[in-house]
Order: sequence, then C-alpha cells, then structure tokens
Amino acid sequence: MQVRYPSDSLTTLTDVVLPGETNPLNNLFGGELLARMDRAASISARRHSRRICVTASVNHVAFNKAIPLGSVVTVESKVSRAFNTSMEIYIDVWIEDRESGNKTKANEAIYTFVAVDETGNPIPVPQIEPQTELEKQRFDAALRRKQLSLVLAGKMKPHDATELKALFV
Ligand SMILES: CC(C)(COP(=O)(O)OP(=O)(O)OC[C@H]1O[C@@H](n2cnc3c(N)ncnc32)[C@H](O)[C@@H]1OP(=O)(O)O)[C@@H](O)C(=O)NCCC(=O)NCCS
Repeated sequence: MQVRYPSDSLTTLTDVVLPGETNPLNNLFGGELLARMDRAASISARRHSRRICVTASVNHVAFNKAIPLGSVVTVESKVSRAFNTSMEIYIDVWIEDRESGNKTKANEAIYTFVAVDETGNPIPVPQIEPQTELEKQRFDAALRRKQLSLVLAGKMKPHDATELKALFV
C-alpha cells in the first residue's frame, strides 16, 4: 500500500463564531468546537485512507483559550500516525486577530479514526512518513497515546502497554 505524508491529509476549516454557537459568557460553546474538530479530522482521515472513516475516540482536548463571539476560527487537522486500521489525527485551533490578522493558538485536540468497509468492519490504511520536526515528535508520541486510550477504554491491559510504561521507569 502506498505510503502517505501528513501533508496529504492537511485539512483547514475556517468559520466565524455566530450567536447561536456561544455559551452564556458569549464564548464558543465547547460542543460546537468539538463538532468542528470532528468534521476536520474526519476529512483528514478520509484523505489519508481514501476510505469511510468513523470516530473511534477523542483522546485529548485542551480548551486553553476561550473563543469570543465573532471570532474567525481556523481548525487545522492532519494524520499524525497511521497504525493498522486506525489513525491518530492531531488538530490545532487558531483564532485570528481582527485588526492585525495574526493567528493565536487557542486549543488543540487528538482524535482516533478507524477506516471501515461498507459493512463497518475495520480495514487497513496506508502507512505514514512524518516529514517535519513537529510531525516526527507527534508520530513518536502517538503509540503511547494509543496505548493510554486503549487502557482507559478497557481494551488493553496496563501490563501490555509497554510504550506507556516506559514513561514511568
Ligand atoms: C471504531 C470501531 C470501528 C472499532 O471497532 P472494533 O470492533 O473495536 O475494532 P478493533 O478492536 O479491531 O479496533 C480497530 C482499531 O481501532 C483501535 N481502537 C479501538 N478503540 C480505540 C480507542 N478507544 N482508542 C484508540 N484506538 C482504538 C484499535 O486499536 C484498532 O487499531 P489498529 O487496527 O490500528 O491497531 C467500532 O467500535 C465502531 O464502529 N464504533 C462506532 C463509531 C462511530 O459510530 N463513531 C461516531 C460516533 S457516534
């Protein structure tokens, strides 16, 4: 199967925050941001695998910075690592200053998608070769994150999470 690069799956969604999408503090509602990130990540997974892809887990979300009403929000996602049938998608969220146009990182998240056939059974995806320093760092740490996610989901015994355990010894 053809090897792909993270840049092959780069997906950028830019949209504004409208009044119906905010919480009582007039900041973007967390669930709305999760949906935008899920949409971008699903496109990245599809671009990498060229298959039907489903969200298997949301491994990490950090709402570091509130996103005010009227903000221009850019959600940028890429596959950071491909395993057998699953892919880790790394998502960076940026907001744009109205006057200067400068972008500030507001949030980030990590989702896992699985490629499936027409009947919903997992199928293999192409491998990935990271190119930039950041892509290499994210690729290297992805196996630990997969093991942590599987342990928390009760799908892997902590004893078998060798990469994860190596962090603590
Ligand atoms: C995701 C799904 C296809 C996995 O099916 P499954 O029968 O558990 O399949 P497997 O156990 O073979 O797992 C498939 C892959 O997903 C990975 N995976 C499963 N659960 C995971 C989790 N919680 N975290 C990280 N990876 C996970 C497995 O490690 C495996 O990866 P690999 O093949 O790359 O090693 C299945 O659970 C499903 O269809 N879920 C519903 C998806 C959905 O509808 N999402 C939208 C939300 S409503």
